[in-house]
Amino acid sequence: MAQVFEMTHPLIQHKISMLRNVDTTVKDFRALANEIALLMGYEATRDLTLEDIKVETPMAVANGKAIQKQVAIVPILRAGLGMVDAILSLIPAAKVGHIGLYRDHETLEPVEYYCKLPPEIDQRQVLVVDPMLATGGSAIAAINFIKQRGANNIRFMCLIAAPEGVKALTEAHPDVDVYCGCIDDHLNENGYIVPGLGDAGDRLFGTL
Ligand code: PRP
Ligand code: URA
Repeated sequence: MAQVFEMTHPLIQHKISMLRNVDTTVKDFRALANEIALLMGYEATRDLTLEDIKVETPMAVANGKAIQKQVAIVPILRAGLGMVDAILSLIPAAKVGHIGLYRDHETLEPVEYYCKLPPEIDQRQVLVVDPMLATGGSAIAAINFIKQRGANNIRFMCLIAAPEGVKALTEAHPDVDVYCGCIDDHLNENGYIVPGLGDAGDRLFGTL
């Protein structure tokens, strides 16, 4: 069964409250999303598998560690883009794939319009990122596409989740651990997270 982690770090909770604020500007929203993703990235990579390596120092050969699997970051377009730079600053060698999905505003069903993943995705630790996990439809569909292309080691990271989305995602993909900045109260009748922060893509890119 998937593990679900809700962040307890005070800095993350403080910054999520600022992110939610309706008066937060686009510039500050983008900076905060980046800062929260950075702090969460630290938590979500806490147990990455290491391998033993030898490192030659100027003095001797030391026993060292290296992350065993290459990492791929896969943002769900478009709002997932707001979390990529933060993870790249933690893991600069990570490759980045993209999945383009949008929610049909009538049916709330995800529609795929783009998918480009790094090579040898089956060998990689994949981190799928999207600020919002609402009904779960987008995350479930994105992970379906990534699995169809061979990935078998996937984690999902979001800033805000609805309990309904967490349930749907963990039932659909019990092998995928979920890292949430905060799990909110509920979804409204339009599929928006309450209290949430509104439309993450619009707030990141100023398309309100
Ligand atoms: C938002 C968000 C997720 C999705 C979550 O994207 O970034 O991808 O909704 O909703 P769900 O869990 O109910 O699928 P949106 O479809 O608004 O597209 P955008 O990123 O292009 O704004
Ligand atoms: N997508 C968003 O951007 N916000 C929500 O509250 C739900 C889905």
